[in-house]
Amino acid sequence: MANPDIVHAKPDGAAPSLSDARREARTCRRCDLWKHATQTVFGEGPQTADVIFVGEQPGDQEDLAGKPFVGPAGRMFDAVLQEAGIDRLKTYVTNAVKHFKFEPRGKRRIHSKPNAGEIRACRWWLDQELDFIRPKLAVALGATAAQALTGKAVPVTKMRGQVLERDDGLGVFLTIHPSFILRIRDAADKDAERARFLRDMQAVKALMG
Ligand code: URA
Repeated sequence: MANPDIVHAKPDGAAPSLSDARREARTCRRCDLWKHATQTVFGEGPQTADVIFVGEQPGDQEDLAGKPFVGPAGRMFDAVLQEAGIDRLKTYVTNAVKHFKFEPRGKRRIHSKPNAGEIRACRWWLDQELDFIRPKLAVALGATAAQALTGKAVPVTKMRGQVLERDDGLGVFLTIHPSFILRIRDAADKDAERARFLRDMQAVKALMG
């Protein structure tokens, strides 16, 4: 159930519905990232979701599929959510930035971090998703999401597990991005980090009630 106490500021000129916003976002020109990406990757999930997960930006596979979190980080995310007892299909999953930013390297496309201007430009869409969904809780997966949701730079590794309250009353749970776990080479460290991420998701589940 949406939280009636949260009144998100709907930007002037916002779409009349979430599906209109999704359609309008397909031709977004608010920054230059559309030029090289395959398509806009908008959020997915029911408008009645209690919790919204926000990642950084689509990766290579998400860019091709047009869906958030379907690549390696998405598979890690799905597995941990399942272990924590969270049904992804009942949540809304999106990204702070809705186009894939990359550097071409031969045939590969290497992820490149979105800058503050790109994050700001894409808040146009994130704010509308928040406004239509009015979740009880937002989960920031990593620093880019935390910045997009709170408007400031947040040291997520230090503050993980904490909930920051926004001026509009929305709680933002801070955690790391699942791709951080994938980048760890040492098997024991990787397992430990995955276990910490699982504990974070169990905390999210508890907050969901
Ligand atoms: N990383 C993200 O932040 N989002 C995705 O959708 C995929 C990878």
